[in-house]
Amino acid sequence: MNRFEGRTALITGAGSGIGAATARRLAAEGAHVLVTDVDEDAARAVAAGLPQATPLRLDITDRASVERLIGGLPALHALVNNAFLPFADDPDENWRRQLDGTLLGAVHCSRAALPHLAATAGAIVTIGSVNAEADFGDHAYSAAKAALGSFTRTLAGEAAPLGVRVNQINPGTVDTPSWAGRETALADLGARAYPLGRVGTPEDIAAAVAFLASADAAWITGTTLRVDGGLLAVNRHFREILGDG
Ligand SMILES: NC(=O)c1ccc[n+]([C@@H]2O[C@H](COP(=O)([O-])OP(=O)(O)OC[C@H]3O[C@@H](n4cnc5c(N)ncnc54)[C@H](O)[C@@H]3O)[C@@H](O)[C@H]2O)c1
Repeated sequence: MNRFEGRTALITGAGSGIGAATARRLAAEGAHVLVTDVDEDAARAVAAGLPQATPLRLDITDRASVERLIGGLPALHALVNNAFLPFADDPDENWRRQLDGTLLGAVHCSRAALPHLAATAGAIVTIGSVNAEADFGDHAYSAAKAALGSFTRTLAGEAAPLGVRVNQINPGTVDTPSWAGRETALADLGARAYPLGRVGTPEDIAAAVAFLASADAAWITGTTLRVDGGLLAVNRHFREILGDG
């Protein structure tokens, strides 16, 4: 498939995990990928392995830099809001980080990208989380991800007359460096919590991003797609109690 031939895609937090897999996937489908990350070395390392990629330092919490970098691009066909703001130990600081970072960061990037995307009939894909839909701990992160879902729907309404589509993916647990040091927990979750018997790979999410950002999703906007191995839809605990699982 070459769904992104001649197209430019910008991915935030693309130096690791889901963002890096998305960069690889979109590049494999022909995109010129702007591999952005607050960690410039990580962005460089990912871009180095791709045929058409430009590594760029971008801190999504810095509105002025976001507007300068995205606003100054010659063209843009797809924006992937993916960066993951690590949790802070202090509860207040964690709330600020998740609301200012996770939520407002995606808002800054989306606003800055919209004029470009209006010119190219482009698309925004934002990475949320199953935490937006049910209790999996960390209220600040979960609230920020839930608010992103609302932003996705509202922006979809604003952007539709411009021909721009805006969608969100809510992943379940995905084996990325953000889980480093918790390999046993990941294996247990895969075996015991996930109906499909494993946690996700970054490539599982990248495939869904590529679909929603491509013309294959031309009539899809304002949607949240769960990519979670059946986690939220299937009640394994209930089935086990009934001896049905
Ligand atoms: N891994 C999971 O289990 C999981 C589950 C659900 C949702 N998600 C979501 O998927 C996305 C990617 O997560 P991941 O696990 O691949 O993360 P990761 O930790 O592997 O990568 C995140 C990247 O974001 C970058 N980053 C951090 N702060 C930034 C900032 N201010 N500006 C720009 N970049 C910044 C980091 O440098 C890093 O390269 C996140 O939005 C996360 O909330 C992950």
